Amino acid sequence: MSAKHYTFRIQRNRKGPDGRIASRWVDYPVSATETTTILTLLEEIKGDQDGSLTFRQSCRSAICGSCAMKIGGRTRLACKTHVGSVANADGVVVVAPQANQPVLKDLAIDIGPFFERIHKIQPHLEDGPDTDAVLEQSAYDQVNHVTQCIMCGSCYSDCVMAEVTPEFIGPAALAKAFRFVSDPREGQKRRRLEQLSHPHMMWSCARCAMCVESCPKDVKPMEAIVKLRTRGLAKGLDAGPGPKHALAFHQDIQQTGNLNEFTLMMRTVGILGTLEELGTAFHLMKKWKIPSPLPHKSAGLAELAKIYEILEEHPLDVETKAKEVVPE
Ligand code: FES
Repeated sequence: MSAKHYTFRIQRNRKGPDGRIASRWVDYPVSATETTTILTLLEEIKGDQDGSLTFRQSCRSAICGSCAMKIGGRTRLACKTHVGSVANADGVVVVAPQANQPVLKDLAIDIGPFFERIHKIQPHLEDGPDTDAVLEQSAYDQVNHVTQCIMCGSCYSDCVMAEVTPEFIGPAALAKAFRFVSDPREGQKRRRLEQLSHPHMMWSCARCAMCVESCPKDVKPMEAIVKLRTRGLAKGLDAGPGPKHALAFHQDIQQTGNLNEFTLMMRTVGILGTLEELGTAFHLMKKWKIPSPLPHKSAGLAELAKIYEILEEHPLDVETKAKEVVPE
């Protein structure tokens, strides 16, 4: 494979005398084959062009998670990403530090706030009535899937909810929570789900699926979050706008096959909450985004009713196909 010319456009970040980070973009020409990794080329730039370039790396094997950074607009592991897969048509590769986290210098971020969120999740099974339960293969598969997370922070960096709500615990911590909630041996599932029902926890996810896209280990944190919500509702934890919104969706689709957006807000946040959102409603009306106030039913409702019948009989089968992890 022959070498090509690329331009690395790297965001350089330095703390100024006022303590604030000042950013600038600097271009570095490199020559490489398409399958050369971004990390290899960053090291080449640091070695041959500018020794002050700062970034993190350790294992070089997509295991430690320390080289996660924004590459081509998405957070990726530099040691796993081939330059040919992220360069634009002009051969430019844009590299920046992870988003939603404080920058220390150049591409290195302060990982403290990310791990503060992770530490909110009790990191071991807790004693309780289910302590002696058997971990069958299918339950093990589910538990094991989320433990593939390497805590690289990519999901948190690309999370749109973390961008607008810094208090949000984030996808990685919620995936970690699911590891324990989904374990049949966990003795405090309900207490964990109660904690996860608090503001800025599992119901704050906007389900944009960016975490699914960016996870280098295919952990699919958003799917874990949806499963946590299902388990919370199955335990009767339905207070607050998040569960109410989900239940209103459920009710509408089950009964008519359509979402009644006209009454959805009222059923989610009540009269006072709806009054607070009137400005947004008027804005949408000005754009002619007006839901029909008249109830109408979709075709094929009988088919839908059959699906709901099965789901309501076995609420978790849709996620696990494992009879041994259906809640007690
Ligand atoms: S250097 Fe360890 S994941 Fe990239």
